[in-house]
Amino acid sequence: MASNFIPNLSDFSFSLLLVLAMAPFLAQSSELKETQLVLYFQDNVSAGPNATSLPVAGIAGKLWTFTQIGIVYVTDDPLTAGPEPNSASIGRGQGIAVVAALNGRNALVLLSLVFTNQEYNGSTLELQGNSKQFEQVTEVAVVSGIGRFRFARGYATFETNLLDPATSYSVERCNVTVQHY
Ligand SMILES: *[C@@H]1O[C@H](CO)[C@@H](O)[C@H](O)[C@H]1NC(C)=O
Ligand SMILES: *[C@@H]1O[C@H](CO)[C@@H](O)[C@H](O)[C@H]1NC(C)=O
Ligand SMILES: *[C@@H]1O[C@H](CO)[C@@H](O)[C@H](O)[C@H]1NC(C)=O
Ligand SMILES: *[C@@H]1O[C@H](CO)[C@@H](O)[C@H](O)[C@H]1NC(C)=O
Repeated sequence: MASNFIPNLSDFSFSLLLVLAMAPFLAQSSELKETQLVLYFQDNVSAGPNATSLPVAGIAGKLWTFTQIGIVYVTDDPLTAGPEPNSASIGRGQGIAVVAALNGRNALVLLSLVFTNQEYNGSTLELQGNSKQFEQVTEVAVVSGIGRFRFARGYATFETNLLDPATSYSVERCNVTVQHY
């Protein structure tokens, strides 16, 4: 009976090792935090030299439009704190989008939010998801991050804030909600 109250030595050393091994992780990561961001993509899809989203590949003999399956766009959009193009810079939105639906309605989006502002300089968030191009609000997953956003996960919505077809310019509002340590 009494032996039930005596800790087994091998159990004890095992749990001690576990605690020691965990210690560095516990020290670096305390509580799960939630961060919400609102930022704006300044997106210039003109055919000119200052375009920030460019079609780079497609199917031979098909038009390179955003409703044609197989079209690949590369994007390097300025990210700003407000909707105006000259409002405070937050970083860049860099990535690719592939029209991935036969009917042209959905695109696979792989996008890094590359922060260069004071608060998040050097950190990134990685967005991935299926964007329903013709919905007013599209939502993709935030699958990871680095720097301040290590182990991040969450979601991001996109909605058009300004669209000027005449100059092929649009401003997209992006709301991000992430949990991270
Ligand atoms: C978009 O880029 C074109 C040239 O590529 C330029 O003429 C136009 O001014 C740009 N639009 C804005 C709002 O910067
Ligand atoms: C492209 O941007 C540069 C730098 O802002 C500007 O000097 C140039 O006029 C722009 N080109 C066009 C075609 O808008
Ligand atoms: C961000 O980091 C880079 C590289 O460390 C540095 O050159 C730059 O000045 C920093 N920017 C801000 C806004 O702190
Ligand atoms: C994004 O955030 C803004 C400002 O908080 C809010 O007005 C807007 O409704 C949000 N959009 C979505 C799709 O949640």
